[in-house]
Amino acid sequence: MSGRLAGKVAMVCGAGSVAAGWSNGKATSVLFAREGAKVFAIDNEIGRARETVEAIRAEGGEGDAHAADVSVGSDVAAAVAACVARHGRIDVLFNNVGIQTVGGPEEIDEATWDRVISVNVKSMYLACRYVLPVMVEQRAGAIVNNSSLTSIRFVYPCLPYSVSKGAVNELTRSVAMQYAQHGIRVNAVVPGLMATPRITKRLHDSDGDGYRDKLKERDDLIPLGRMGDGWDVAHAVLFLASDEAKYITGIELVVDGGLSASVLGKAWRD
Ligand SMILES: NC(=O)c1ccc[n+]([C@@H]2O[C@H](COP(=O)([O-])OP(=O)(O)OC[C@H]3O[C@@H](n4cnc5c(N)ncnc54)[C@H](O)[C@@H]3O)[C@@H](O)[C@H]2O)c1
Repeated sequence: MSGRLAGKVAMVCGAGSVAAGWSNGKATSVLFAREGAKVFAIDNEIGRARETVEAIRAEGGEGDAHAADVSVGSDVAAAVAACVARHGRIDVLFNNVGIQTVGGPEEIDEATWDRVISVNVKSMYLACRYVLPVMVEQRAGAIVNNSSLTSIRFVYPCLPYSVSKGAVNELTRSVAMQYAQHGIRVNAVVPGLMATPRITKRLHDSDGDGYRDKLKERDDLIPLGRMGDGWDVAHAVLFLASDEAKYITGIELVVDGGLSASVLGKAWRD
């Protein structure tokens, strides 16, 4: 532990992983704990949060698992109250929950639209609604929201997802500006093509053993030569959550291996 979050309490919403391996929320939770934070790991699938906490404790870190659907106000209020009852404060909030669906306006039905917007955007509003009073009282806090490259570039048709992530960017800016006066920073990470368990599982489910070729195709698009992973996101979130970023608020930190800087649709090779 090098102590970049020593003595801090970090609430992570969506701390689990949909499949074995290192999702953004799981990797970030473990990295937070390595840096000295006490992690309050929230997930609507409690078994997933527990797996993350087991990984934290196996390394000698501190963490607790808590079940909550963060798109439901009463669940979020109860989770915040439980974290404050346990630790007395909340220094870092990582809003990581996001669900994805493929399709445009004709393919996506109304119920799916409502669900994606609710889980991806309302959840972050609710977490801010209940955590900000705690941070205002402390006169300090750092919030990091997980957005997506689809919020700023077209990647493929995933309309409610990309629209929800655009809203996450604006929520980030707006809350950052309103709460700067209270010493609270709010930033977003914008991951590009990441080989997290959710993505590799989806490719495996659709392409069987051919999923490795699909991953290679994606690697070849990236200027830095590979898809990112949960740890790449975790390190960016850690930076924004830590005091090293104490003069940074209201930004979108793109974590995409250079993908969004290129108009070629593939990496340049001499
Ligand atoms: N994986 C990528 O390629 C990628 C790229 C860009 C952005 N992101 C963003 O990263 C975030 C995490 O994605 P991932 O693939 O690493 O994670 P994941 O899907 O493996 O894990 C997300 C966790 O959130 C939990 N969760 C889902 N809905 C919830 C709810 N309503 N309440 C509480 N918990 C809930 C799930 O149970 C799961 O454990 C998402 O916001 C996603 O949009 C991912």
